[in-house]
Amino acid sequence: MAGISDAYGTGPGVITPDGCAVEFYARLSDFGEPAIVHDAAGAGASVLELGSGTGRITNPLVALGHRVVAVDESPEMLAHVRGAQTVCARIEDVSVTVIDANGASAQADWAVDPPTMATMVIAAAIAR
Ligand SMILES: C[S@@+](CC[C@H](N)C(=O)[O-])C[C@H]1O[C@@H](n2cnc3c(N)ncnc32)[C@H](O)[C@@H]1O
Repeated sequence: MAGISDAYGTGPGVITPDGCAVEFYARLSDFGEPAIVHDAAGAGASVLELGSGTGRITNPLVALGHRVVAVDESPEMLAHVRGAQTVCARIEDVSVTVIDANGASAQADWAVDPPTMATMVIAAAIAR
């Protein structure tokens, strides 16, 4: 039986360690995710996107006026990000402190709450 690694990870150009084709993602537009984040976070929010890829969601968020930090382990993906601070690292190696509007802080603990595909698709933490 074919494993997941046999089922994806093909395409032109660079393939990331998790099997994403950079050129494929660079051609994709967003599917409304930036507007959802914008509505939820409010104008001018700071957004941390884990597994940002090419900035498919990051770049529209920057255009909407958000400060975005985009984390991805693929430098080829991050080369497509525009106007955001980029961090080329594995999510598991990034230390994240979330500070809420009341000043309370919490440390993201990936051992307890490992990043899932969903959190990689968009934002793990939104701090105002
Ligand atoms: C399926 S792509 C999605 C990209 C982007 N979020 C989007 O929706 O267009 C997953 C991205 O997460 C990155 N990624 C996967 N696992 C990662 C990890 N452990 N640390 C950092 N980046 C990771 C990959 O390099 C890839 O760019």
